[in-house]
Amino acid sequence: AKITYIEHDGTEHQVEVQDGLTVMEGAIRNMVPGIDADCGGACACATCHVYVDPAWTDKTGERSSMEDSMLDFASDVQETSRLSCQIKVGAALDGLIVRLPEEQG
Ligand code: FES
Repeated sequence: AKITYIEHDGTEHQVEVQDGLTVMEGAIRNMVPGIDADCGGACACATCHVYVDPAWTDKTGERSSMEDSMLDFASDVQETSRLSCQIKVGAALDGLIVRLPEEQG
């Protein structure tokens, strides 16, 4: 699926992410800056925080309760905040747009 990551300064990275990977892994493999993913995708660090474009929140689904509590450690959490290691890429997310928070930039 094609995913667009937008850095806090507006720089866009449109990359092809293999289905089955997470949105976090897609960023790391394509060297998109702004996602640290310190815990490697275990939902235990909150440094893979992204804002899902409002047009896509239906498709990316709901936060899990574990994700929700981990987001307490992220700053500037908004309604559309997600941990990108908890979003699995698949055909339904082709065209997805996520924005990266300032503190991870
Ligand atoms: Fe650590 Fe997502 S990579 S919570």
